Amino acid sequence: MEKIAIASDHAGLSLKTEVIQLLSRKGLEVEDLGTNSADSVDYPDFGHIVAQRIVSGTNSRAILICGTGIGMSITANRYQGVRAALCNDSYSARMSRMHNDSNVLVIGGRVVGPALAEEIVSVWLDTAFEGGRHAKRLQKIDKDRVETVVHKVVSRYLEKMHEVERPVLERMIQESIDAILNDRKEEK
Ligand code: RB5
Repeated sequence: MEKIAIASDHAGLSLKTEVIQLLSRKGLEVEDLGTNSADSVDYPDFGHIVAQRIVSGTNSRAILICGTGIGMSITANRYQGVRAALCNDSYSARMSRMHNDSNVLVIGGRVVGPALAEEIVSVWLDTAFEGGRHAKRLQKIDKDRVETVVHKVVSRYLEKMHEVERPVLERMIQESIDAILNDRKEEK
């Protein structure tokens, strides 16, 4: 079953715990990627981990929580293919799915209480993307970013590094770069 990744900083920890309980009650599997203590941490560290999992396809949906949700959404949206929507109300959560096909829901743990968060998460999970004209608009958002290309190449390299010789790896890396750049040309 698909697992939903979730992470927060210290300011989002309490709401993260509530959201994990909600997801479990809904029968969904959750991958909790931290933080798991009240110690102060830096939200980008967690935002990057989750965004990279969306880029690599390890998770297709994720939830991020920090104090306002702003830092997490700025971080996650630096990756091509990540559509992180900061939704501190359920209307935005619904529209972020219908029109933006958001794959990361971001909530402000210091903005939203548990009851509203529950509504936001439920609406977000239950709403489908409308496609059509909105799909065309999404294509216009995504352009290759350096960090996304590097991450894709490194992921492919790491998968194979114990299996093949260095010259083969070097060729694979070059082919990966060519393929990514070629995809980008086709998208244009
Ligand atoms: C942490 O104090 C706070 O800055 C962080 O959780 C978040 O709100 C950043 O955008």
